[in-house]
Amino acid sequence: MTFCGLDFGTSNSTLGIADPRGARLVPLEGAATTLPSAMWFDMAGGTPLFGRSAIESYVDRLDGRLMRSIKSMLGTSLIEEDTWIGRERIGFKQVIAIFLAEMKARAEVACGHALEHVVHGRPVHFVDDDAAGDRAAEDTLRGIAREAGFAEVSFEYEPIAAARTYEAGLEREEMALIVDIGGGTSDVSVVRLGPARRALADRSGDILSNDGIRLGGTDVDRLFSLATVMPVLGLGSRMRRPGAVAPSRYFHMLATWSRINALYAPKVVAEVRDVRRESREPEKIDRLLRVLEGNLGHSLALKIEAAKIALGRRDPTEIDLRLVELGLAVSAGRAVLDSAIKDAVGRISALIRRCIQASGMAPDRLDAVFLTGGSAQLPAFRAAALAEAPAARVVEGDTFGAVGVGLAIEARRRYGG
Ligand SMILES: Nc1ncnc2c1ncn2[C@@H]1O[C@H](COP(=O)(O)OP(=O)(O)OP(=O)(O)O)[C@@H](O)[C@H]1O
Ligand SMILES: [Mg+2]
Repeated sequence: MTFCGLDFGTSNSTLGIADPRGARLVPLEGAATTLPSAMWFDMAGGTPLFGRSAIESYVDRLDGRLMRSIKSMLGTSLIEEDTWIGRERIGFKQVIAIFLAEMKARAEVACGHALEHVVHGRPVHFVDDDAAGDRAAEDTLRGIAREAGFAEVSFEYEPIAAARTYEAGLEREEMALIVDIGGGTSDVSVVRLGPARRALADRSGDILSNDGIRLGGTDVDRLFSLATVMPVLGLGSRMRRPGAVAPSRYFHMLATWSRINALYAPKVVAEVRDVRRESREPEKIDRLLRVLEGNLGHSLALKIEAAKIALGRRDPTEIDLRLVELGLAVSAGRAVLDSAIKDAVGRISALIRRCIQASGMAPDRLDAVFLTGGSAQLPAFRAAALAEAPAARVVEGDTFGAVGVGLAIEARRRYGG
């Protein structure tokens, strides 16, 4: 057996294999089958660290660069750019190739043989409303996966992969709405599933509709950050010139996982110093400068993400900012989060409605809604998804593993002979 399914996620990645014993994920970091899509490069150009170890090295303040949400670069012009690590320049495509090659190598050790053929997951749309951009992003990812050492690369939509995982345990035929809300994208499918359908060679008739948007948990983090922490760092603060406020772009970059490192460029730090000179509230811009000079952007983002998740259980929740300034903290309630993501929730609802409509099914004829992806745990997104198929049974899929297992099932079908 030489095939696998690979779910390279914006936040977490998994790799699945399928053999006569069934389809399963392989351990990628210790016993864990998820590998956070994070890399840490030390400034001296040594071998990078991956996953949880990468995040820990950064949090321990070792001198280096953390990269997270690198998948978000796909489908944007940023993917063609380079980033500086110490004195070395490295392209983002190469960064992703190093990550995929590491996943492949770890999985090969775990399962004891070489993995040459891969069914690679992909969002339904890398880019919204741009078919050519979508094709280009898939081509780029295919090239990267080859660069990482896979001889044969094919793609499957992430929600269709999740559907296969769900179908593997089904005893009756049903119409299902699959909702995968992840870190970078939200993907939806309406599919006919069942034990008798599983064996069919051609399933195209069972896929009634697929749709997706470039919106996920990292966008929630950004919107939540802009509503809570960024104002404390100077977003919207007054400049000397009457009526003027501090330029917002630095705060937007700091609030966006994939843009944080770009802020550390000496030229950008110099610009922010100029902003400070012209500011009427320089004590706020000083905090921003401390974040940039101290390489603290990801620490801040990690705190904001943790607060977002904690709000599901504890309302309000405190975002501790002592790393920026002793005694500094912001309290944020669920109402603040919900208001910050109001439009995003509306886009999720519209996406699901559109996908159901395209399937030709009446919403009340859907038997089940299968939820997967970390952001499907966000109360506002979850409620929005369930409201679109009120009569359907709610099935909680494996939050982080359903796509990877389904890709392995698909790989066995395509390459298993
Ligand atoms: N309990 C929770 N409540 C809200 N959000 C959560 C929770 N747990 C995880 N998340 C969010 O889920 C996202 C990660 O989900 P997941 O691992 O499914 O994404 P991914 O597969 O890496 O991304 P994508 O499929 O979009 O490329 C992160 O933004 C994370 O903050
Ligand atoms: Mg995913």
